[in-house]
Amino acid sequence: MEEKVLLAVAVVVLLVVVSKLKSLLVTKPKLNLPPGPWTLPLIGSIHHLVTSPSIYRAMRDLAQKHGPLMMLRLGEVPTLVVSSPEAAQAITKTYDITFADRHLNATIGVLTFNGTDLVFGTYGERWRQLRKITVLELLSVARVQSFQRIREEEVARFMQSLAASAGAGATVNLSKMISRFINDTFVRESIGSRCKYQDDYLDAFDTAVRQTSVLTVADLFPSSRLMQILGTAPRNALKCRNRITRILEQIIHEQVEAMDRGEKTAHEGLIGVLLRLQKEASLPVELTNDTIVALMFDLFGAGSDTSSTTLNWCMTELMRYPATMAKAQAEVREAFKGKTRITEDDLAGAELIYLKLVIKEALRMHCPLPLLLPRQCRETCQVMGYDIP
Ligand code: HEM
Repeated sequence: MEEKVLLAVAVVVLLVVVSKLKSLLVTKPKLNLPPGPWTLPLIGSIHHLVTSPSIYRAMRDLAQKHGPLMMLRLGEVPTLVVSSPEAAQAITKTYDITFADRHLNATIGVLTFNGTDLVFGTYGERWRQLRKITVLELLSVARVQSFQRIREEEVARFMQSLAASAGAGATVNLSKMISRFINDTFVRESIGSRCKYQDDYLDAFDTAVRQTSVLTVADLFPSSRLMQILGTAPRNALKCRNRITRILEQIIHEQVEAMDRGEKTAHEGLIGVLLRLQKEASLPVELTNDTIVALMFDLFGAGSDTSSTTLNWCMTELMRYPATMAKAQAEVREAFKGKTRITEDDLAGAELIYLKLVIKEALRMHCPLPLLLPRQCRETCQVMGYDIP
């Protein structure tokens, strides 16, 4: 009996040694990885990022040293930082399909219905169909133009409210006003009217986004069960997502009722369009209520915070540089010659070169959401002479 056990142990040891030897002998071709800063065991490159007041600026400083394609390791996650126009073009145009997936960490996974949504979905037939719906139905030129009146009314309301406060010499919280104005516009474009659940939705949404804005242990060490237990961000995100789902389901339910009553504005909003496509059932993917919830969650996330963050930074930078503000104001006044209400047609007819430069500069300095939408490489490829695994 003892001999049998010894024999079994010897066989196992032999198998382990053979497999180790095999892996040593069969050497994989060495990859020419992009350069990057020195790493520490376990945390990788994180110490280079957290010692700076801003993670984005830390990445910029490192990229200036290591080049436009730079390899970092965020905990367990190998991360390629792409920071020149040529490198960005290579990833998002030349190798667009190779990099079509997005990195789904634990928190984002929870928020995006395990990557079954539009933005974080895996490349494939569903990925293609959801983009087709978005491009041809939801964000087509005709659809965007059809919301022109809503945008003009909301801008006018926003400006009137600002003017009234200025007239009364009152202090305003411009960030809050901008956020409200952008959200009101999106909600009206989605359901055709204002929404009684808006504050609740925004609260849940803001809390959800906050869970994704920091480097959390569950996301940095995806293979560690302990870190998954210790990480609170995915659990908090799940609570927010459930709240958001309940609100969107209720909104969809009310939209169906409004459409049944024949309300024209309900039919014309983004949710109305999706419900029509659901009824027609002519798409290769089934447009369930869950898919509509995921699409609306994505569009709101993609379109609202980005726009209000950009506007906020434009105004902040203009206030910090009064000479730039004066130049931008002079250009706007010259272009519209005292008009008090400006339409999108007026905008299309004006050049506003300086104002456009101001917006581009604000986007360059304070790009909204850059770390939230990373792409993921689907197969090893070569970019600018480096191997990207
Ligand atoms: C200042 C405003 C905005 C900025 C800075 C911005 C920025 C971005 C960035 C950087 C991406 C990732 C692109 C990529 O990986 O190739 C993206 C994706 C996306 N954006 Fe925007 N965006 C803005 C406004 C909007 C608006 C208003 C909408 C629509 C309501 C929108 C809808 C989307 C969608 C659907 C995607 C995902 C596309 C895909 O995965 O194929 N964005 N945006």
